[in-house]
Amino acid sequence: MRLTSRYRFSASHRLDTPALTPEENRKLYGKCNNPHGHGHDYLLEITVDGPVDQDGQVVNRQALDAVVRERVLARLDHKNLNVDIPELEGSVATTENLATVVEGALAEGWTLPARLAKVRISETARNTFELEVA
Ligand code: NI
Repeated sequence: MRLTSRYRFSASHRLDTPALTPEENRKLYGKCNNPHGHGHDYLLEITVDGPVDQDGQVVNRQALDAVVRERVLARLDHKNLNVDIPELEGSVATTENLATVVEGALAEGWTLPARLAKVRISETARNTFELEVA
């Protein structure tokens, strides 16, 4: 059985890689390279899977919400991803890299019986990034 729970957080970022010149960064990332950053209302979807337990649930949703809140939302919500998230230091604050950070943060504190199966982050209504957990 699979369950997907949805959460929201807001954060700002700027896409810029130090390996490139300012001109090359502007060309590569367009307006996402604007010097002072910009914000998104991200939609985070966490999927777990496993057998249905004796309570008829794949996971205790309050326990799942608590893990996501403590491990992820408390660290990302209303933050500047370029400066507030140590795991992103040295990487570009793309949503691809952010999904990997979220997966790592959840995996580290994961004690739920259901398996963490997928991390999905929608940056805008047009772009969704999906990380399948092996
Ligand atoms: Ni952006």
